[in-house]
Amino acid sequence: MQRHSLFTAMSLGLFAGAASTTALAEMSPLEQQLKDLEEFQVIAHRGASGHAPESTMAAFEMAHEWNVDYLELDAQLSSDGEVVVFHDDTIDRTSDGEGAINDYTLEELKALDTGTWFNEANPDSASDDFAGAQMLTLDELFEHFGHDARYYIETKSPQLNPGLEEALVEKLEEHDMIENGRVLVQSFEQDSLLKVQELNDDVPLIQLVWYYPSEEDNSKLVEWTDVTPGPSEITDEDFQAVADYAVGIGTNYIYDGRQVIDADFISQAQENGLPVHVYTINETEEMERLMDMGANGLFTNYPDRLLELVD
Ligand code: G3P
Ligand code: CA
Repeated sequence: MQRHSLFTAMSLGLFAGAASTTALAEMSPLEQQLKDLEEFQVIAHRGASGHAPESTMAAFEMAHEWNVDYLELDAQLSSDGEVVVFHDDTIDRTSDGEGAINDYTLEELKALDTGTWFNEANPDSASDDFAGAQMLTLDELFEHFGHDARYYIETKSPQLNPGLEEALVEKLEEHDMIENGRVLVQSFEQDSLLKVQELNDDVPLIQLVWYYPSEEDNSKLVEWTDVTPGPSEITDEDFQAVADYAVGIGTNYIYDGRQVIDADFISQAQENGLPVHVYTINETEEMERLMDMGANGLFTNYPDRLLELVD
């Protein structure tokens, strides 16, 4: 998207040296993807999940038709090792089944209805087309959109999905997603990202962080996995430690009504080479506020609202 931040581009070093037209023309698709991160990114969170059942083909198709920059999705494993696209650890909320997703084979997961719950919860957006939606495999998503889309894939709950990184990287390589600049891999777990990097060090990685008040001292914010200190204590060195393996950072903005990051956090991350993508922003006013604060992209269930705001 064209909401270009010159400051960000400069702080990322993207204009360093003689960036001639010839050099740009010779850029590989993967280099082009990294360069595109200097522009504002519209990231469809679980597809256009405000309008269609999350993580279903309908939600991804809607977002893709709107020409978003990335389709965001969560990857997990079925009990027989297939990579499936699903957010929760259990199937209860968004299907007609119950229990842990990892207890079911792909065949069993495919028999579930992952669309009717949405119609019941959102009568104004309900559609007969959503009823009976099947859980997607990553293969199906890749086969459907191919290299026409970019995918922002989270290794969800790595402890509950042992072997996920290996299975994911295998799929990325099989579908030629990495060298074609089609994928970012995101995780809250640094170990999971490092595992992906060990398997294929070309995969661009995004470190997710989640800030919330410390139980001991409510005035102090802490990060869920301790990957960084809280925003008020974070140093350039902390950001540099993330920049050693990741190309960006994905953060929450609000915890329980309390703002956890600000424009200083965003610019400090950028100055250390890390564009900042903020999740999950659904209200137009909040989108505008974060764009004014210099965020490099937003995860949203309503990409249509965000697209209205970008050039
Ligand atoms: O991946 C960014 C954001 O989606 C993280 O939160 O719980 O929606 O996966 P969650
Ligand atoms: Ca996610």
